[in-house]
Order: sequence, then structure tokens, then C-alpha cells
Amino acid sequence: MSEKEIRGASEAEIAVLWGEEPYVYPSTEFIAQANMTDPGIYKRFSLENFPNCFKEYADLLDWYEYWHTTLDTSDAPCWKWFVGGKINASHNCVDRHLARHRNKTAIHFVPEPIEEKTEHVTYQELWVRVNEFAALLRDFAKLKKGDRVTLHMPMVPELPIAMLACARLGVIHSQVFGGFSGRACADRIVDSQSRVLITMDAYWRNGTLGDHKKNADIACELAARDGQKVDTVLVWQRYPGKASSPTPMVKGRDHYVNELLPDFYGARVEPEKMPAEDPLFLMYTSGTTGKPKGCQHSIGGYLAYVAGTSKIVLDIHPEDVYWCMADIGWITGHSYIVYGPLALGASTVVYEGVPTFPDAGRAWRISQDLGVNIFHTAPTAIRALRKLGPEEPAKYRYRYKLMVTVGEPIEPEVWRWYHAVVGKGEAAIVDTWWQTETGGFLCSTLPALKPMKPGSAGPGVPGIHPVIFDEEGNAIPGGTGRAGNICIRNPWPGGFQTIWGDRERYVRQYYARYCRNPQSKDWRDWPYMTGDAAVEAADGYFRILGRVDDVINVSGHRLGTKEIESAALTVPEVAEAAVVPVAHEIKGKEPDLYVSLKPGFSPSAELEERIGQAVVREIGKIAKPRKVWIVRDMPKTRSGKIMRRVLAAISNKKDVGDVTTLANPEVVEEIARMAG
Ligand code: WTA
Repeated sequence: MSEKEIRGASEAEIAVLWGEEPYVYPSTEFIAQANMTDPGIYKRFSLENFPNCFKEYADLLDWYEYWHTTLDTSDAPCWKWFVGGKINASHNCVDRHLARHRNKTAIHFVPEPIEEKTEHVTYQELWVRVNEFAALLRDFAKLKKGDRVTLHMPMVPELPIAMLACARLGVIHSQVFGGFSGRACADRIVDSQSRVLITMDAYWRNGTLGDHKKNADIACELAARDGQKVDTVLVWQRYPGKASSPTPMVKGRDHYVNELLPDFYGARVEPEKMPAEDPLFLMYTSGTTGKPKGCQHSIGGYLAYVAGTSKIVLDIHPEDVYWCMADIGWITGHSYIVYGPLALGASTVVYEGVPTFPDAGRAWRISQDLGVNIFHTAPTAIRALRKLGPEEPAKYRYRYKLMVTVGEPIEPEVWRWYHAVVGKGEAAIVDTWWQTETGGFLCSTLPALKPMKPGSAGPGVPGIHPVIFDEEGNAIPGGTGRAGNICIRNPWPGGFQTIWGDRERYVRQYYARYCRNPQSKDWRDWPYMTGDAAVEAADGYFRILGRVDDVINVSGHRLGTKEIESAALTVPEVAEAAVVPVAHEIKGKEPDLYVSLKPGFSPSAELEERIGQAVVREIGKIAKPRKVWIVRDMPKTRSGKIMRRVLAAISNKKDVGDVTTLANPEVVEEIARMAG
């Protein structure tokens, strides 16, 4: 059997072994207050009414000018939505709420140290701060419409403020997850050609005020080496007026934002009237091949999509307090901490630190104190909270009406704890399946209309028409228990427009496989391939089985195997590296790193440590291997391909299957003895 066949077979097997869970119904109390209780929505968003159905979402926004074309397919598969429309995301998330919600909290900022007070940023204050920072970006940093700027910010209100200031000017922001290394930041600076970096000197994480400024220095140095000079670094101070990082400021390049801001006191910046299909931001994500991809998201289509889905899936009402525990450095944070909730005028919580600091009750205390009633997190956090404090939620008097899970498949058992204990048996749950590329949700139940099913994301959300294709491109019908590649039949406004600077890769990776005719300008010929494997049940609910490509999902974050392997190869002794996912109780998956050495070098604990550190340095702590295994040789096919599947089986203590066709079956046994 080929590798592909083996993989296909095992996916199908998982599906068959995994029994159907019974439905769980939302309470009548939830249904009575829900935003979307009209089952007619599915009909309104059927393919018959495509693409005009999405006007319903776009109408949630303020437009300077209405569009003349809902969907322009002339440059397929680069879709253009709401063409001719003029809009500004900053206006929609801030200014337009002033008339009715000026004094309402837009952002509740919860610092990690418990002795520090929560900051409640009203819409008025947000407006003032966004305007002043926008003026600084324009007049001091000389940024203008269409420029890209890299942000490497932690979870503080200055991050959404910087994003919204960019959006106000039509500047394209590219926020790099704060936990990523200077190296990872440099790669993204180079790819997006940013000459300005916005960062913060330090931030709290797990009880430590860590030096973050040092990453900016590394990023600028490495970016310059790769040909991209950063001439301006804007450094927010975690404690304005006080330097919290020992790393010195570079004269002429680095500037403390709070020292510059007084010059812009009282400044107001008219939001740019931007074409709807201009880019709002780039979000880098890991793919199968080395280089991270800059997913380019539009202003009008994206904002309409996240506003619409925040309203009908997250059920956000203006009076709700909504807390999504994701990091704004990931797409979940962009769409469902910042843009979606703020477009609806909600109160959104930004928490600086880890949910279990200083103890497993923190998340529930925050919820109780702020009156959080919508709670959004990932299976990895749910598992951690369950492990550390299974009885904790019962001690607090918060009350959730809705809870969200995102980022990886949730085990039914974990789902039931989330529902019974965190949700106290009364909160509805939505399991939202989607991707960085897709901008917003693809599959989820509508919480008042469809019952929940533990472990299943649910049907496509309105306007999303998923289909599962087999290897030959035949649609696999629901209820057969057979798994395949889950694709989306139609474009939708939240989908990314292209990979920044690499249209060819965009087409090849997401569309080429199932495209019916590369010349076609008809969207029906261009199903979008998500790269996930899934099964569809008879009721049209989709269960996601995980990635079909070489991406490891650690704590709900996609890490490219190639990126981790390249990091290992920066250690001079390393000849080859292969990384595989290992099941982990809390994180979901963890990388296990196998390396072979160049001739003349021998294994040692010191070398293992150095290789692990190289991964942390190049990518960040999040990618740190569980274990570095130094092996004599990698199991390989006769054509020389490293058999990651075999290594994964060993790491996970599973049967390696038939390895007799390999070029070197004897090393498999050797590795199994060592790592098994
Ligand atoms: C996985 C995060 C199962 C999936 C929004 C997808 C999920 C990848 C779910 C995207 C879910 C996300 N159930 N798997 N509810 N949500 N995934 O780009 O494999 O960081 O392709 O976007 O995470 O990860 P990304």
C-alpha cells in the first residue's frame, strides 16, 4: 500500500470506530433570547440565493458607498466581494457606536497580576486612543494607505488600538503572535516588507514580566540580513513612563510610544474611505512547505462575515460581556475578539496572561467579576482547566448562556465536562470549525436552531456548503462513515483573497486539486480545499478528524512540520530532521523530533538539549519538542522519502504496520526499541 492509501484507510477507520453521539438540546431560556431563531435562514442562504444572501451580513455595517457587484469572479479563484463599496473597519468598530454606546465598555482589559486593576476602555476612550495613535502612525511613522506594518504585541488593549489605528488609515497590519521568537517575527517582516514594527517592552505571562523588547532587536537584525530594513520601531511601555525591559533602545530607530503620544494629544483622523476589496490585514499561518503563508484578508467581505457570524453563531447582543481566551495574534482573536464583537458594539475581554494563573479558578473569577456570559476557548484550555481544577467552576457565580470551542477536535468526554461543569448544564455550546484562511466559521450549529452533538462541529453555517471529496474527486455522501477531504463548494465573503505575494501557491494549495477547469470564471468549478479530513453523518453534521497534510496542531495552534525541522537543521551537527505529532492529554498534540547526525558526530544529552533550544529560538516555546530522539538513520521509502507515519506510530506507541517495503526496515526496529 502507498502512504496515501494507508492514511486514507486509517482516517476511514477512525470514523467507523467513532460512534454517533446523541443530540444535546439548548434550554428554552437560551432560545427565547437568541439572535437567530428563524429556521428560514438556511433557505435564505441556500445556493439558489448565492451570492446575494450575504447582503444580510453586509447590511450589519455602515458603508460610505454601496457596492455595485456582490461577487466578482473575473479573476477566479481570487474572489472579490462587494466591489464598488467603500467602507472603513475602524469606523465600523469604533466611531459608529459613539452615538448610543459612548460610555459603554468596549474592552475590559484584565492584567495577569491579580493585584492590578481591570481597565475598562469605553468606546469614547477607544475612539480617542485609536485616533491619536493613527495620527502618530501617519505623521511620525509616515505610514500611508497600502503600507504593511508588523505588530509583535502581547495581549494588551494597545494591540486592538494599533490594529484599529492601522485600519483607520488603510494601512495593512500583520500581527505576529507575541509568543513567537524574533526569528519568526523577522520572517514575517521580510515577507510583508514592513519598515515599521510595533511592539511592547514587556508583558506578564505565568507570573513573570518577560523581556519582549529583545525580540524586536533580533527581528530587525535578522530582517535586515534578509534584505528588509526596519527604520522605525514603536515600543509601547507595559508601564508607561517606566522601562520594563533591560534591552536598550536603539537610537534613531526605537521610540517609546508614550513619549511620542503627547504630540498627538487631541488629534483626530478621518477614517479613509477604503474600497471594500482592499486588504485589511495579513495573518501568517503554517503550511506544508517551509515558508509561512501571509493570508490576505479584505476589509468589506471579512468584516461583514465576522460581524454576521458573531451575531448569529456567537449570539452576541450589545449588552453581553463576551470573553474569548484566544490570543489576538491568531485568527480567532482577530475575528472574534476584535473585529466581530466590536463591529457589533459588544464588550470584549482582553486577558493578558494564562488562564490558570495563579490558580485554576482565575478564569471563573474573571467571568464572575465581569459578568461574562459568552465564553470562547479551545479544547486544550478546557483540558488544562479540567485537569487542574475539575471542581473549581462550581465555586463561582458566573453564568454563561453560550460557550464556544475552536481550534481542534474536542473529545466527547471533554465536551461533556465543558457542558456540565463549566456551562453548569445550562449554557449552549457551539463547536466552530474554520481556519486562518477562511476568516470566519465554516461549520457550527446555530445555537438556537440546531441541537448540539458532542465531538461534531455541525452542519455548514448559513451560506457555507461543505462537501467531502474522495481521492478521485467524487463526493462522499453523508451517513456512509467514509472519510475524505472536506471542501467548500462556494466562495464566501470572509475567505482570504490570496497568499501575500504568492498567488500561484494560493491556487495550487487550495484550489488546484479539485478544480474542474483552470480557465473557468465560474465559482462552481473551484471548490476550496481545506486540507482537513472529515466525515459527514446522515444528519449533515461534520466531524473533523484533523489535518491531512504535514501540520501539527499544538494547543490549537498550527505549526508547520517543515518550520520545526528547518529549525533543527540550524544545529550544525544535524543531518536530517523529522517531526511528528504525539498525542498529549492537554495540548492535543505535541511535536516529537527525530534527527540523524552528520558523519563524525555522536549523540549526547547536551546535543539533544541544544536542538530543542534551537526550535525554541527559531519558532518559540510553543513548538518545543516533547523529546529529541537522535537516531542512526531515518526510516525511508525507496525513493528516499522520510516515513513520518512510521515515526509517528512509534512515538504514539502504535503498530507501525508493514514496513517491509522500506529502504531500511531494520532502523524501524532500532528506533522502536529506543523510543517505544
Ligand atoms: C483545526 C483556527 C476540529 C482544523 C480557527 C483546521 C478544528 C485548523 C476546529 C485551523 C474544530 C479548527 N474542530 N478541528 N472546531 N477548529 N480546527 O488556521 O484542522 O489556526 O484546519 O484556525 O485547526 O487552524 P487555524
